[in-house]
Amino acid sequence: MAQIEGKNVLVTGGAGFIGSHLCDALLANGVGKVVCVDNFFLGKMENIAEAMTNDNFVLYRDDCRQFGVMQSIIEREEIEVVFNMATIALNYSFFNPFDAYLVNVQIANTLLELLKVGAYKTLIHTSSSEAYGTAQYSPMDENHPTDPTTPYAAGKAAADLMVHSFSKVLDLDISIIRPFNNYGPRQNAEGPLAAIIPVTAKRIKHGGRPVIHGDGEQTRDFIYVKDTVRGLLLAYEKKEARGKIINLGSGKGMTMNHLLQGICDYMGYKGKWDHLPERTSDVRNLCADIRLAEKILGFEPKMCFDRGIKETLDWYKNNSVI
Ligand SMILES: NC(=O)c1ccc[n+]([C@@H]2O[C@H](COP(=O)([O-])OP(=O)(O)OC[C@H]3O[C@@H](n4cnc5c(N)ncnc54)[C@H](O)[C@@H]3O)[C@@H](O)[C@H]2O)c1
Repeated sequence: MAQIEGKNVLVTGGAGFIGSHLCDALLANGVGKVVCVDNFFLGKMENIAEAMTNDNFVLYRDDCRQFGVMQSIIEREEIEVVFNMATIALNYSFFNPFDAYLVNVQIANTLLELLKVGAYKTLIHTSSSEAYGTAQYSPMDENHPTDPTTPYAAGKAAADLMVHSFSKVLDLDISIIRPFNNYGPRQNAEGPLAAIIPVTAKRIKHGGRPVIHGDGEQTRDFIYVKDTVRGLLLAYEKKEARGKIINLGSGKGMTMNHLLQGICDYMGYKGKWDHLPERTSDVRNLCADIRLAEKILGFEPKMCFDRGIKETLDWYKNNSVI
């Protein structure tokens, strides 16, 4: 069992959606300091507003791809553990496929090189269920083939292969966590990279209609962000997780129709929905087999969807997003 308490921890992408919740949880868990490195591509100061009031929180506006930058931060802040959360959201694949792919690989490369030379001790690397592509069987365990359908997903899968192989060949202290679809407060609500839950709620609020691609019967496994964060912390604590790839999800597939209906019910919307053609690169079905997380991490999702979606939408409402 490794103790996070008292350790100096670096979070790449710590001003983003999941990363900022992780920063809060690390501070609450009594770490020595939390060092957030984010280039603010999609990160927001609001996400880390509370963390910024804590003396043990340090922010660097930097690019995690840069070896020299990361080396100097890790040395100066005497970092022991790195959680790699930085990425550029999936939809960026449709605008700039090359960077959507490369950012994942380049950040992983930098972090691996620094781990190899002993700049820090442990890497908890974040993958994505998107690396699997659409389910060839369900629920999907960690042996499910990877067949990415977007450059983002290809970059995630490539980074995973790199991280996993390095951990074996060089015997590095690494765990790979593969979350399914996260939702919760602070998920990006603006611009072309916005997530479906806040986008739909905003559309309804402003007199528009919910938009669904295809028949809406495609499924995703929605996990509440704080459950994911708990899984990430367990991945550090449990030494048995080293060298492993471990799914984190709710273990339940949910159709997009069901998700949108939950948002409509919350907003009291009874009108029509707009149906757009299916996006060819969209994954059809994702549902996690979480038995490995249960066995190795002692993980179980605590938040049920009905309560989670209400808390999420309440948060968007209270923060004037919807
Ligand atoms: N959100 C999900 O549903 C989901 C599902 C599975 C896996 N994941 C993974 O979880 C991690 C966090 O995802 P998220 O949803 O919080 O994404 P996010 O976009 O909200 O956060 C990513 C952060 O990384 C930062 N960033 C991007 N490029 C950077 C760079 N070169 N240097 C420094 N910072 C950079 C962004 O500014 C942003 O703050 C990612 O690895 C993602 O692939 C997310």
